[in-house]
Amino acid sequence: MPGYELIGPEERQAILEWFDASNGVLFAHGFGPRRNGVFKVREFEREIARTVGVAHAQVVSSGTAALLVALRALGVGPGDEVITQSFTFVATVEAILEAGATPVIVELDRSLNLHPEYFRKAITPKTKAVIPVHMAGAAADMEAILRIAREHRLAVLEDAAQGFGGSYQGKPLGTLGDIGIYSFDFAKNITTGEGGAVVTNDPTLYERARALHDHGHDYNPTVPRGKDTRRQAGFNFRMTEVQAAVGLAQLQKLPVILERQRANKAALKRGLDGCGLEFRLLHDEQGDVADTLIFFLDSEQQALAVAEELGRRNVGTKNLPDALDWHFAGTWRHMMGAFAGTRQAGAAANCACHGIVPSCACASLLRRAIALPVNVMMTQENIVSIAQAVRESIKAARGV
Ligand SMILES: Cc1ncc(COP(=O)(O)O)c(C=O)c1O
Repeated sequence: MPGYELIGPEERQAILEWFDASNGVLFAHGFGPRRNGVFKVREFEREIARTVGVAHAQVVSSGTAALLVALRALGVGPGDEVITQSFTFVATVEAILEAGATPVIVELDRSLNLHPEYFRKAITPKTKAVIPVHMAGAAADMEAILRIAREHRLAVLEDAAQGFGGSYQGKPLGTLGDIGIYSFDFAKNITTGEGGAVVTNDPTLYERARALHDHGHDYNPTVPRGKDTRRQAGFNFRMTEVQAAVGLAQLQKLPVILERQRANKAALKRGLDGCGLEFRLLHDEQGDVADTLIFFLDSEQQALAVAEELGRRNVGTKNLPDALDWHFAGTWRHMMGAFAGTRQAGAAANCACHGIVPSCACASLLRRAIALPVNVMMTQENIVSIAQAVRESIKAARGV
């Protein structure tokens, strides 16, 4: 969650220093001597690449833009199918549609991320790429997903919008596949207000992403920007200098953010000991960003009753169930037309997913889930009182 929790004197200072040093040149390119050699976007890109250990980072105006740029860099377009999971923010599917491809939505495993076996079953000759999403900052089953993708020669784009700073088997989320993306919107681990990044070790994908985010500019070093060469059409998904200045200040806080979230999540989970709850499966607990604690109740009714009781006690939930409709493809009737090309084999009649998801296990899994936000600034007192409210809400819902 928490970049925004820590917006404070350091970000303010970073903006003031950037302004004075650069004469307020907000644009990432050009403006010769006026900017005094200050290039915050470039610096932010270097620091992101260093933080996650990749060769290239291209910052852009949002995580959604990052997804579209990454898909286009991979060459995804009309006639292609892109497989992703039913639990994600709507942006993942919007980007697939915007690229002109057909989204193929598949089931979740107990981590609430892409189910590898359903991914395998959904592959057709038209499949070009797969987007595992590391929801709530916890890794998808990347070992299995990468194996299947390699067997079928599919590109892997990791949607790590919620996973900046997390890892899987020691590798940063977003860097395991061919290309990965992050979001720096106001609710993410670090924030630039709006913003995102595309990361990759592949120089060709990087060059494409760079051109795609900036009207097709080749960034040809032998000519000035006004005479730059072009090989492909692009668009404007650029980030401004002031956002990058804020991002650099936020980046320095990442270790503290992760450390506190992990400690607070562990304490909150301990506070629920003895409730007999099934917690979300974590494929790599150590690498969890830890800004969310998710558990399952015995039934959908029980989960709703718990959420209502928590609401009465002023304890908020995070997306499950309060914003489920923005995070579950099975509810996206407004985009139903776009799913027309998606195979629906095995869909149960009148299923909650309207046939988007081949079977509906994920709908009931998500509707049985409660996600508690974990904040950086939580005190031990907060944690104890939230845990108590959750325990009592569960008891009331179970009628014990
Ligand atoms: C999984 C996921 N993908 C993509 C995005 C889009 O990021 P942005 O809000 O920066 O456009 C989000 C944002 O919430 C997200 O959670």
